[in-house]
Amino acid sequence: MHLHKYEKIWLSLGGLALIAFLVVLGVNAFAMGSHPPSHMAYVDPTKVDQTAPFDKPGLVQIGDNEYDLNMTAFVFGYGPAQIEIPKGAKVHFNVTSKDVAHGFSIPGTNVNMMVLPGHVNSVTHTFDQAGEFLILCNEYCGVAHHMMMSNIVVK
Ligand code: CUA
Repeated sequence: MHLHKYEKIWLSLGGLALIAFLVVLGVNAFAMGSHPPSHMAYVDPTKVDQTAPFDKPGLVQIGDNEYDLNMTAFVFGYGPAQIEIPKGAKVHFNVTSKDVAHGFSIPGTNVNMMVLPGHVNSVTHTFDQAGEFLILCNEYCGVAHHMMMSNIVVK
């Protein structure tokens, strides 16, 4: 088989690009330990109510106006359904589902994630403004999907 000179040049460029890509990927994933941040924490979805911290969902102070907010999602609501947050608080949401896949979004903020049974998903948000916020489900989960919400009051 005869390869034209330009074919050889382009083939070697392609080969080099592939090697460069694999080196970048390998260095990032294995040497620097960069992995997707999901699926890090697990919980048995049938035992959420007995598993700390989800046996007592709610706000836990962990620092100077910094809180963990442990929440459960279920058909068709969130626990707790009503949350009071001090103004300026940095809140680390940790959320898991007791049944099916749900959404967890707070319109007007960057908080927007999926909540899957068996997994704990997390997001951090600082509430700089006083006011009322809704946590809404944006993942269709059944007949009363549109009723699924929780209310946050920041003051
Ligand atoms: Cu939960 Cu839709």
